[in-house]
Amino acid sequence: MQVIIKKDYDEMSKLAAGMIAEVIRKKPRCVLGLATGSTPLGTYKELIRLHKKERLDFSQVVTFNLDEYVGLDPNHNQSYWYFMYQNLFKHINIRIENVHVPNGKAPDVEAYCAWYDGEIERAGGIDIQVLGIGGNGHIAFNEPGTALFSRTGWVVLDKRTIEDNARFFKRKADVPRYAISMGTGTILEAQRIILLATKESKADAIAASVEGPITANVPASALQLHPDCTFIVDKAAASKLCRKYGSTPKKLPRQ
Ligand code: GLP
Repeated sequence: MQVIIKKDYDEMSKLAAGMIAEVIRKKPRCVLGLATGSTPLGTYKELIRLHKKERLDFSQVVTFNLDEYVGLDPNHNQSYWYFMYQNLFKHINIRIENVHVPNGKAPDVEAYCAWYDGEIERAGGIDIQVLGIGGNGHIAFNEPGTALFSRTGWVVLDKRTIEDNARFFKRKADVPRYAISMGTGTILEAQRIILLATKESKADAIAASVEGPITANVPASALQLHPDCTFIVDKAAASKLCRKYGSTPKKLPRQ
């Protein structure tokens, strides 16, 4: 696992967007795994800028989002479909038929989740997966205690997640109690993963995921098992890391 510590949110977002843009330029028909939350907003803004100013072309790109609240209609202003549409999809030349966000209103949730995993496979697998992290170490909505190799399925939201996400709803009671989430095992199958984190509120989760043991109590710690995973964090989110992180030379230095 590689850790890159950036000065601030802007730098983190630019680096992440640059990595995604590189994948799109090399492979126009690539598959992106996308995340919601406030953290990737700067990355999406930069991708929109690259599309508008540098002609980054999304016309063949396929996307799969990590999660969605159970029971929310895609038009609900807190649904993750709505979030993605407002913050990315409507600003770029992606084809809506190439976009996948789990359907929180699916009548047979279990069959739907198996289908969703199948669609990722049929699309050729995810080339680059963007992740945020919950204050409790969750990735997507894989809460502490979920199996490290879980597949996409429905999950019960953790008390802390409900509290953290209550700020987006009128009342805490309005936060859905269940969600559909891409499984940790599904996420680990992506070719490449980038996890973004800013602010001190994420420092404990980052330290536990990077330097702690691999445990289901900290779902993001499973990323230590992935051969090509990069954490891009700002100084505040990195503030509880103990090891020193610098750039690793791309080539073996001359002996
Ligand atoms: C939600 C999402 C996660 C996201 C997390 C952090 O719970 N399901 O995918 O990583 O929020 O959100 P934020 O970036 O707003 O801190």
